[in-house]
Formats: sequence, C-alpha cells, structure tokens
Amino acid sequence: MALNVVIMAAGKGTRMKSALPKVLHRLAGRSLLQHVLDAAAPLQSPCTVVITGHGAAAVEAAVAGSGAVCVRQEPQLGTGHAVQQAVPALDTACATTLVLNGDVPLIRTATAQALAQACGGTRLALLTVTLDDATGYGRIVRDAQGRVQGIVEHKDATDAQRAIREVYTGILAAPTAALARWVAALRNDNAQREYYLTDIVAMAVAEGCEVVAAQPAGETEVLGVNSPLQLADLERRFQRQQAEALMEAGVRLADPARFDLRGSLRCGSDVEIDVNCVFEGEVVLGDGVRIGANCVVRNARIDAGAVIHPFTHIEGDAAGVHVGSGALVGPFARLRPGAELGPEVHIGNFVEVKNSTLARGAKANHLAYLGDATVGERVNYGAGSITANYDGAHKHRTVIGADAHVGSNCVLVAPVTVGAGATIGGGSTIAKDAPPGQLTVARAKQVSLPGWTRPVKGG
Ligand code: UD1
Ligand code: MG
Repeated sequence: MALNVVIMAAGKGTRMKSALPKVLHRLAGRSLLQHVLDAAAPLQSPCTVVITGHGAAAVEAAVAGSGAVCVRQEPQLGTGHAVQQAVPALDTACATTLVLNGDVPLIRTATAQALAQACGGTRLALLTVTLDDATGYGRIVRDAQGRVQGIVEHKDATDAQRAIREVYTGILAAPTAALARWVAALRNDNAQREYYLTDIVAMAVAEGCEVVAAQPAGETEVLGVNSPLQLADLERRFQRQQAEALMEAGVRLADPARFDLRGSLRCGSDVEIDVNCVFEGEVVLGDGVRIGANCVVRNARIDAGAVIHPFTHIEGDAAGVHVGSGALVGPFARLRPGAELGPEVHIGNFVEVKNSTLARGAKANHLAYLGDATVGERVNYGAGSITANYDGAHKHRTVIGADAHVGSNCVLVAPVTVGAGATIGGGSTIAKDAPPGQLTVARAKQVSLPGWTRPVKGG
C-alpha cells in the first residue's frame, strides 16, 4: 500500500532556547528529524514531504539526499496550516497520507505502518496514548458509545475535557483527498488563533467518515522533545532500550544506565563492557572482547579476545580503526583513523597511533607516537619515541622492519627506514636509514669532566 508521508518540522522549539532548529538536535548521535526519516524509510513512500519553517535552510540541508522533498511554511500558523502547505506536493495516487512529527523521534516503523493500515485510504486513524498527566496535549473526546468525536486542545478545553487522559500524539493517517479538503476548510477561531490540524477530526465525524484510534506499544515512542530536559529523558530511555537489546543478545554491560550507543554496535559472544563507555558510528566487537571503563570507541572493528583498557579513545573515521585478535590497548591510549593493529599487538598508556600498521606482536607500551608508519612483527618501540612524520607541508612514512628494537626517546625523521632486526640506541635522532641487524646510535657522546666543581654561593 503506497502512502504519502508528511513530517512536520517548521515549529520554533522555543523551549530549547537554542540557535539550532529543534528537529536538528541530536538524540543518540542522530538528529531528531533523522530518527523520524529513518523510521519512515521502510514504509517506502514514493512521496515524503518535510515541512520546514524555522531554520529552514539548515533543516533542508539536513534532509538533502534523503529522497524527501521540503516545503516551506511561512509564517507558521499552526499544524493545520503546515499540512495545507504540504498538500500540493502530495502524490494523489497514494490513498493514505501519514502525518509524523519531526520532534517525536522514537516512533517505530511498525506503529506507523499499523496506523496507515488502520486508515486504509478511507478512515481517519489517530495515534493516541493515555497519560497520567495530560497537561498541554489535545484531548480525545468520545461519545457515550466510545466513538471519537473530536480533539480539543488543552488551551481550549473545559475542565471536564481536561480531565480526559487519552491524548492525541500528533501522529495520524488520513485519506489523502479528504485530508486536502479538510485542511483547506480549517479556521483559526480558537485560543491560540492557529489553524489546528486536530480540527479535521470533527470534520470527519460530521461527514460520516469513520475515525479510529490506535495506540503505540509503549509511550516512549510518542514522547515529544520540547526542552533540553525532555531531550535528555528521551536519550536515557532510548539508551536503555539499546542496552537491553544488547544484553538480551548476551552482551555483559556492567551498568546499562552508564552506556551510550550513538550508532550501531555488533557484538560476538562473551563481550564485556564496563561503565561509562560511548560507542559511535559503526563498531564491531568480536568474541570475548573486553572494553574497560570510560572508553570512547568510534568506527572500529575489534577482533576476538582483544582487551581495551580504561580511558582509551578509539576514533576511526571513514578509514576506521582495526584492532587485531588478542591485542591489548590502553589504558589511556589513542587510536586515530587508519590505525591497523595486528594480532597480539600491545599499545600502552599515552601512546598515539595514526594511519599506521603494526604487524603481529609489535609493542609500543609507553608514551609514544606512531604516525604514517609501517611496523613489522615483534617490533619493540620504546617509551617516548616518535615518528616525525610531518615536515610542515607533507606527511612522510616511517618503515620499521620486523624484530627491530627502537630505544627510548628516539625521533625517527620520516621518510626513513629502520631495517629488520636493527637496534636504535635510546635518545637517537634517526634521519637516515638504519641498516638491518646493526646497532645505530645518533646522539652526542657522553663526556665527564674530572676536577669540575659546582659553583658555590658567595664564592
Ligand atoms: C500538537 C497537537 C496536540 C497534540 C500534541 C502532541 C495540534 C493543534 N495539536 O500540539 O493535539 O496533543 O501536538 O505533541 O496539532 N508545526 C509546524 N508548523 C506550525 C506549528 C507546528 O510545522 O505552524 C510542527 C512543529 O514543528 C511540531 C509539530 O508541528 O513538530 C507540533 O507542533 P506543536 O506546536 O508542538 O503542537 P502542540 O501544541 O504540541
Ligand atoms: Mg509539541
């Protein structure tokens, strides 16, 4: 069943007190609007219309590439007025039009689909929910037989109507042609002098069009974001859902309340994640991987048995970061884009790795930098050593052959090659290739001055 999807996103979001349009605020790493677009995507609508207004240029830029079209609503005269603007863009061949809210991000595809089916191109289907505190919402008014008669906005409601706890979620599905007719006939003679979309319900009833109400599986999916507090509350609810899904799949989270996933996380069996970890982008953890407390991991693949110790920052981008099986990383390590660690590699505290490949068993255990380097198997890279990979204009590569030992506090001035099995004496600045198998030392000779005495005060 093909349907139109309308997403309302023109409102100001005054209570966010932010320069950023409300629907572009992020929840779990994606904008509120992106959540709605993603929930609608599986419905495969041939026509998705986003109504923009406040911060339209920014919202339209965010929508670009999604396949949705944007329609501007200026000025913003209410939700009914918003849908009026969308009508000319609707596909009249789609009998059903689904109206979603850009600030209700956690709506599930299945719920939207069920609502569209309840409409079926002929009925007006409202998504409603029963709340303990219905303040601010439009109330669902039913007759003695329980049939929906209309929606009354909070500000227009009588005390008796305000006692109703069943409210409109802001989401409906309507027959397309009737919707166009109804919104064209709306008037703004109400408390807010706005064109209320909710007034179409009484119009439908008056015409004899059947009005049905459906409910979501849980209230979280219909909660709106109007303030930073509500945004944070919804974030925690969403994180809890993600944490529960992972734990059901066998992932051991030390504390589901101290876990944040802003993207996708795929885990093998027996994965353990300690408290306060943040996962961003696409992260894949192999069997038995352990992530210590307070790690941030973005766009990374970590193979079976690897251990990431506390306070490690893994920040892949499109290039990603790869940690081989059985590797040990951290505590306090930083793996940047293009870090490729082979199996059993050890990266210790305060070691930074960028755009570098370390082969099986290579170690850099303390206070070091490897940038644009190719490091062979079993290399031992000493404390305080760095690759000087940047000459101020270009990046250059450092190649370190298998089994080489680079002493402490060395500077490898790229482009440079350290041969297989070479040893570099501590404190060396290596600006020329070091041959394989030999000791290369490049530092001033140590001298001692016999008879030298320390200056003394008043002497
Ligand atoms: C609306 C409903 C109310 C419902 C509540 C659920 C109406 C008249 N009332 O009230 O029954 O209980 O949602 O949250 O529809 N928008 C525009 N253009 C406008 C005005 C709003 O695009 O001119 C957009 C907003 O960006 C928002 C949505 O429509 O995404 C809802 O607007 P909002 O002002 O929040 O409506 P409520 O007063 O909350
Ligand atoms: Mg609202």
